[in-house]
Amino acid sequence: MTRHFLADDDLSPAEQAEVLALAAELKRAPYDAKPLAGPRTVATIYDKPTLRTQASFAAGIAELGGHPMLVEGSLAGIGVRESVADVARVLGRQASMIVWRTFAQSDLEAMAEHSGVPVVNALTDDFHPCQLLADLQTVREHKGATAGLTVAFVGDGACNMGNSWLVAGATAGMHVRVSSPDGHAPAAEMVDRAAAIGVGTGGSAALVADPREAVAGADVVVTDTWVSMGKETEAEARVAAFAGYQVTTDLMALAAPDAIVMHCLPAYRGKEIAADVIDGPQSVVWDEAENRRHAQKAILAWLTARADG
Ligand code: NVA
Repeated sequence: MTRHFLADDDLSPAEQAEVLALAAELKRAPYDAKPLAGPRTVATIYDKPTLRTQASFAAGIAELGGHPMLVEGSLAGIGVRESVADVARVLGRQASMIVWRTFAQSDLEAMAEHSGVPVVNALTDDFHPCQLLADLQTVREHKGATAGLTVAFVGDGACNMGNSWLVAGATAGMHVRVSSPDGHAPAAEMVDRAAAIGVGTGGSAALVADPREAVAGADVVVTDTWVSMGKETEAEARVAAFAGYQVTTDLMALAAPDAIVMHCLPAYRGKEIAADVIDGPQSVVWDEAENRRHAQKAILAWLTARADG
């Protein structure tokens, strides 16, 4: 059975820990492991804007001895010119893995169903699991571990990052609090999904509408843009709705004194995060950006080992 990485909880808690340990090892010795030697080709497709994801996958695949093939989504016309299933069947004959950033989670699932090779979620409307691997690696580096720590996600909890923090954070044994204005909280089933995982890991998931209450004593404070890719037409209404949910120095004063601040980037200073916070001493955002490469190499190497099994 081909394994994929479509959502954060496609990895069990033990598997997530294994991938994170591998990510740390690959960071220590970036050029030693060549599981994609051949070179094996990894197809990468981006239907939404990208900087970190394209750069880190291209660099990481090369470091693993493989070849990053950029498939131009607009030329391929996935789901328009050809069905997702037919694209999957074709790419599965050319590439050893498929990395796809797109809109609908159901399209990614269709790709996985028909490709015959591992498929990796490089961001959908619902999840951003590669970012979470990088973020958890970053938490481990700064805090030594993840289990038992409290993370407060402040802002657009209904976006991919809110969902992924819930599910991946609970998998890592963290207590995840999500604080969003009315109408922008994660779906109840996402909170339930994370809470159910937490039963086994000692983690938990909760919605805490008041950002001050959510951040109180937190070890990790996270935010993300208020206007995710695809939501641009709602920008003005969103900026109004999210007033009061900016991560400021005043808000950070309520967190644990040694709390770290995270943001997947791109960041909008003065909107979801104040400049003096993201550019201040508690910010670890550049470590997160670097760790995309190490964490993604780890999941690609892990999936390759299982596919070769
Ligand atoms: N929630 C953001 C994440 C960007 C990496 C978006 O989907 O645009």
